Amino acid sequence: MTAEARFDLLDHRHTQDMWEITREWRRTTPVLRPMEGHVYVSRFEHCWDVLRDPATFSNANGMKAVEMPEEERSLGEMDPPRHTHLRRVMRASFTRRSVEAQRSFTRANAEELLCELRQRPAVDLVAEFTDVLPNLVTLNLMGFPMEDAPQVVAWARELLHSDWPALNRTERGEGLHGAFPEFSHYLDSLVESRRRPDAPDDMITRLARCEVEGETPSATVLRTLTAQVILGGISTSTNMLGSLFYRLLRDPSLHRRLREHPASIPAALEESLRVDPPVLFVLRNCTRETEIGGFSIHGGERVVVGISSANRDEAIFEDPERYRLDRGRPRHLAFAGGTHLCIGAGLARVVGCETIETFTRLFDVGDVQLAPNFHFEGVPVFLEWGPARLDVQFSRPDAARSPSAPA
Ligand code: HEM
Repeated sequence: MTAEARFDLLDHRHTQDMWEITREWRRTTPVLRPMEGHVYVSRFEHCWDVLRDPATFSNANGMKAVEMPEEERSLGEMDPPRHTHLRRVMRASFTRRSVEAQRSFTRANAEELLCELRQRPAVDLVAEFTDVLPNLVTLNLMGFPMEDAPQVVAWARELLHSDWPALNRTERGEGLHGAFPEFSHYLDSLVESRRRPDAPDDMITRLARCEVEGETPSATVLRTLTAQVILGGISTSTNMLGSLFYRLLRDPSLHRRLREHPASIPAALEESLRVDPPVLFVLRNCTRETEIGGFSIHGGERVVVGISSANRDEAIFEDPERYRLDRGRPRHLAFAGGTHLCIGAGLARVVGCETIETFTRLFDVGDVQLAPNFHFEGVPVFLEWGPARLDVQFSRPDAARSPSAPA
């Protein structure tokens, strides 16, 4: 596809194959209008300019195609100052301490799941592992009863795949409450139960008791924020793990290196987030006539911050297309940046590192292999990147060392 061709940013069949065209855009037309009303920003420095200017590039309403009632807006659907107040409340549950506390939980659950899976000759690692583990960790951090996890995740998936993310409604009704009454009722009751003095000290309790500018947020606000945290990590972390597993399964030297030198795992994860960002781009609404890099943008247009392009910007990264472990912690935009920098970035990093450490410790090179004739297919979501499935075979089911066996 040439740079002049019309490009549908809302069609996953186009966005799943953007690498070449965005390289060309960075070189020739770094800011352009590939489709009506949408301006794509491809260079790192211009993406930063957008992300750090919420007054001009607003998040109000986020990706919703309809005007949202204020109470039902998630953090990603609001601007300062309301965003600043509510984000502060949420940030209190993502401190380094509470995130680090999830390391042992992640490792134990990764071990348990992988040891179960290796008993089976063939498995889709996405459906059975990368789509399961991160949700357990998020729900654990938030303070959900673990026995409720399967139901909560099922509700959250149903919600993600419904019309609700775009339209704030389904055929059942309007808003989260109308569209998903059972899920909403569950969240409301849980939050309510945490107002009791003997409630455990966790994220849901902190939300239930929080005050924003001297007032207790309504049940609708608390429900919306709780749901957003669950949804925030659901497919993003799955994509992150899926892409790194896909690389490991194709590159025995990488697998060997991480197994022999676990200290390289954080660099391997960061480089994976840079080259294969789980979120391809984020959207902003332009509030006034402005320009980026000399390109005029009109008020009311949507600005597409090209994370996947910025992360391969040759002005920032030497040899940008290559996956390399010697970049340390590259300054990538996988978690965006500025006002709406991902709140779960630290948690995602803990989950990524612990999962890969567990996998490479349990399995030697060749113990787990992609199924013969495996063919990569990306997730069918226009702004996401990651394998839709990873069919693998455990070639030596007895090879994985059980957690208690000596290394
Ligand atoms: C690899 C995993 C993840 C990736 C790649 C990712 C990516 C992102 C990105 C790009 C944004 C910014 C959206 C924007 O600027 O419009 C964001 C925001 C957010 N993420 Fe994540 N995320 C990940 C994991 C998580 C997890 C695990 C959680 C929670 C448990 C989470 C919760 C959130 C929340 C609440 C926001 C909204 C922040 C705000 O608007 O102030 N994310 N994420």
